[in-house]
Amino acid sequence: MRKMKRFLALSAAVMLAAATAGCGNSASTPAAAAVGSSEAKTEAKPAAAGTQVWRMAFNQTEEHPQYRMMEEFSKAFKERTDGRYEIKLFPNETLGSQRETMEQVQSGVIEMSIVNNTHPGSVSDYFKAFDMPFVFENVEEAIAFVKTSPVMDTVKTDTQQYGFRIATYLPAGTRSMFTAKQPIKSVADMKGLKIRTMESDVYVSMMDAFGGSATPMSMGEIYTAIQSGVVDGAENNEITYVNSKFYEVAPYWSQTNHLIVPDWLIINADVYNSLSDEDRAVFDELCEEGLDKVHVLWNNKVDELMASLDTSKVTITTDVDARSFMAAIAPVNEKLVASNPKIKEVYDALQEFRK
Ligand code: GCU
Repeated sequence: MRKMKRFLALSAAVMLAAATAGCGNSASTPAAAAVGSSEAKTEAKPAAAGTQVWRMAFNQTEEHPQYRMMEEFSKAFKERTDGRYEIKLFPNETLGSQRETMEQVQSGVIEMSIVNNTHPGSVSDYFKAFDMPFVFENVEEAIAFVKTSPVMDTVKTDTQQYGFRIATYLPAGTRSMFTAKQPIKSVADMKGLKIRTMESDVYVSMMDAFGGSATPMSMGEIYTAIQSGVVDGAENNEITYVNSKFYEVAPYWSQTNHLIVPDWLIINADVYNSLSDEDRAVFDELCEEGLDKVHVLWNNKVDELMASLDTSKVTITTDVDARSFMAAIAPVNEKLVASNPKIKEVYDALQEFRK
């Protein structure tokens, strides 16, 4: 089943690439032109003449707060640009994993995607500062830092040389551990556990420091990997844990709160630059509003979702010794900051912001 999904995702990406190669209409960017031409073939109701249809990839369900926000974003963008632009959303990894869709955005095969911090972090070290466990006190602090710290201009524009722009930060909650067989009460319980992580070397060091071992893989592979015993568990936020039904295969949720890692809405740099000043202002404003909307939707949803779990099947452990995790990771974080000037720049800016 999961293999089939992956196959479909790859086929979709190949079809998009083929459409890009064969197009020649008058849309102003390669990506936009590609979408214009393929849209006419795939949509029962074609977009109005002159409407550029952008594609946005998303790796989770339609219930997710980021998806809900993007539905409103897309509608408002169309209305406020008098129909010049429309954003079509592709949830559930239908266009591929986040790593694949970031590459598609970079090459202009699609226009937009929502990707975890890990992926911009694979091209620009600045982002790795956000991958560090316990670096932010809470999500509110992370949001305030991103909105106000001058270092963010440097961080956000650094990706342009790789073909994409950061449109906005998107909150993605706080991550905790979930496992198949036993709860985690302190870092000692992590010993010997194989845990799925996102695809970043920072997380591999993190799991080592916690006493387990990291098995990096994309979102779409997690459920089966836990079910088949390839890994003993994973770590993520509450909304993903419930929406993606990971509780079915990993019924022990342990509130470690070890990571506050954001997602980023990204856009192909040429596509963004092709916007008129007026349309760009609309886009930028919707991005700013989008961040706040996701935060509100998230907070409204998180308790409700956790409360919806059947406690005869799912064990929720909230009295986790977070300090034991912090102590284990502190030397790793220190080393990371000392070893990389870009990570240090962001880390120092955070200390400055706190003054
Ligand atoms: C979170 C995050 C996603 C990411 C996922 C993961 O749910 O919001 O962007 O893909 O974690 O662990 O892969």
